[in-house]
Amino acid sequence: MFSHAWNSALEASFDRWANAYDAEVQPKLARRGYGYRQLAEIVLGHVQLDMISCRKAQVFELGVGTGLLGTHLRALLPEHVRLAGLDISAEMLKRAGLTRAYDQTYHSTAEHLPVTSNSCDAVVSAFMIHSILRRELVLSEIFRVLKPGGKLALVDLYRTTPRWPVLSVLVDNILSTRLERGAPSRYIRVRTHKRDSQGGEGVIQRVR
Ligand SMILES: C[S@@+](CC[C@H](N)C(=O)[O-])C[C@H]1O[C@@H](n2cnc3c(N)ncnc32)[C@H](O)[C@@H]1O
Repeated sequence: MFSHAWNSALEASFDRWANAYDAEVQPKLARRGYGYRQLAEIVLGHVQLDMISCRKAQVFELGVGTGLLGTHLRALLPEHVRLAGLDISAEMLKRAGLTRAYDQTYHSTAEHLPVTSNSCDAVVSAFMIHSILRRELVLSEIFRVLKPGGKLALVDLYRTTPRWPVLSVLVDNILSTRLERGAPSRYIRVRTHKRDSQGGEGVIQRVR
């Protein structure tokens, strides 16, 4: 019930954001010193492109937004690799469709992936996981759809090591919901090193 309301709020706010998204987000990334091209290179470096060079290989991107990452993934992927994308926001998906980066798109939540088990060589996602209320569902869905040996690359923002660790337990576990342009979000706090002291992106790779 609560997660349904959460997802409805997500969908509505990302629908409203879709028009202005690219103009807001790209300069933000540039100020941090990177762009979607570099992210695509990092992501594909982690999923080891050479491992998915077989015919009919499939990469599935979750939370495609307007297709900023997908555009660069498409440019870097060999032609025979299918790129599919999914998003909870129909307005975001409409824009992603205009990029022609995706062979197929799905209007769905990442908690229920509309593809068969063991069908993906890689699952990738940028800046989506902090929006997810029930991350365990998304991770188990990703595990279900990945082929044996398939790879996962998640890129997301996080908050860095807290100044007051005891207080942060309360803040992280009870009061952790923030709004991002009206969309509810929960940022993971991670211990990290100095280079990332302003917060930043991280890539988690999992080998099934
Ligand atoms: C901050 S945007 C990032 C978009 C894109 N990955 C990028 O880097 O530009 C987050 C995207 O994830 C989508 N999203 C959020 N929660 C989702 C969920 N539970 N299932 C599917 N998509 C979701 C939003 O609609 C939005 O398009």
